[in-house]
Amino acid sequence: MRARVMPGGRVRGETTVPGDKSIAHRWLMLAATADGPCRLEGLPRSLDVRSTASCLAALSPALRPALEAWASSPPVTPERDGSTWNGGASTLDVDPLDLRPRGRGSLTSPSSDLDCGNSGTTMRLLAGLLAAAPFEATLRGDDSLTERPMERVAEPLRAMGAEVTTSDGHAPLAIRGSALHGIRFVPEVPSAQVKTAILLAGLAAEGTTTVTERVTTRDHTERLLDALGASVRVHGTEVTLDGPYQHGGFMGTVPGDPSAAAFVAGAVALTGGETSIVGLGLNPTRTSFLRVLERMGVRIEVEVEGRGLGEPVGSLRAAGVGSLRPASVGVDELPLVIDEVPLLAAVAAHADGETRFEGAGELRAKESDRLVALVDGIRDLGGDAAVDGDALVIGGGGLAGGNARSAGDHRIAMSLIVAALAARGPCEVDAVEASTVSFPGFLELLRGLGADVEVVG
Ligand code: S3P
Repeated sequence: MRARVMPGGRVRGETTVPGDKSIAHRWLMLAATADGPCRLEGLPRSLDVRSTASCLAALSPALRPALEAWASSPPVTPERDGSTWNGGASTLDVDPLDLRPRGRGSLTSPSSDLDCGNSGTTMRLLAGLLAAAPFEATLRGDDSLTERPMERVAEPLRAMGAEVTTSDGHAPLAIRGSALHGIRFVPEVPSAQVKTAILLAGLAAEGTTTVTERVTTRDHTERLLDALGASVRVHGTEVTLDGPYQHGGFMGTVPGDPSAAAFVAGAVALTGGETSIVGLGLNPTRTSFLRVLERMGVRIEVEVEGRGLGEPVGSLRAAGVGSLRPASVGVDELPLVIDEVPLLAAVAAHADGETRFEGAGELRAKESDRLVALVDGIRDLGGDAAVDGDALVIGGGGLAGGNARSAGDHRIAMSLIVAALAARGPCEVDAVEASTVSFPGFLELLRGLGADVEVVG
């Protein structure tokens, strides 16, 4: 599916965005292994989150009907609800998922391999969840996921006592759970997925589990575990959990995904529009991209209005104010904007100077090689981009227009569509159906907010 973008429209209005994908994976996994009833609202029906729900359904006959019914219902089509565009969270999309789980001991051996689809978070987190399960399970994924590194999660889980085999460091991943013991681990690459896999295993392990990172990655797991009464302590970049611990049931509403909001904020920045995004997750480990947009000259205001299961929720106002400055990102800031680099690069392509993203090598191991995909896509649209060692270098100065390849990667496709909104001529972006991996309804929402975007085949 290709999208055609005619630049010139101004993106403006109040909106919601789909529920947070990272939070949804974690809340679903901890709900399915709780000992007591759970109710989750605002779960996004993006493909990645459906993958997690389907895997959990395969692991729990008792929860299967509810999970399958949830996973098979269609995503929200963005529509206006009073003065707010409903882009997927809160307002209209409130039908809850109710589960009556009986603790992690009630998971059972799946009758076939677990299909994680395109979702690295599903695969790595499930590996941790299953590390203590008394059966063997095999995790598979699509071609893109099969290319991604899995040894980083297999190694610490083995150290805790699980039997984990990879295929030369990649999926399929075979896990035979065992009695686990806590470990101290320092991941080579800062990764919230690796940290979470270890903490999920640590919940079932005897003793203390400690993960120390170079920089603090997203901390949704720590916040939820603390809200559920686990003994979890955070000191700087070190997280410690005492196991074993069986949590009870819980209720919560998944806040809007800041990484999805980034695309709307970027569209506003590039078209001189303004937006207010409500019901948004404002966890500080997820909002560093706002600092980068501010440095570029975008007006940003954030207001925390509440808190649920440890997660701050509120609203974001963003306004584009004309020309954009280049705003480089250093090695220590890069892991904090890991998912927003594609969008920030798209905005940087219109800044009046060169932007460097330093220490961005980890982007090679995402749903595509995002360094290559961004350079290709930005050049396809007539821009200036290059890779310099582990740095991504975006030349700035604007885009002429043209036909761009998106490597079938959701964040690349959406970033190029946003970049195209301010090009000097018409643009097309291919494989835009990939946006359903994290942001179903993205094109419809942009159109609702005033962009001239359509699917052309
Ligand atoms: C995620 C962590 C990040 C991020 C991914 C979601 C998570 O991956 O890129 O989209 O939910 O924990 P890494 O942990 O591999 O950096």
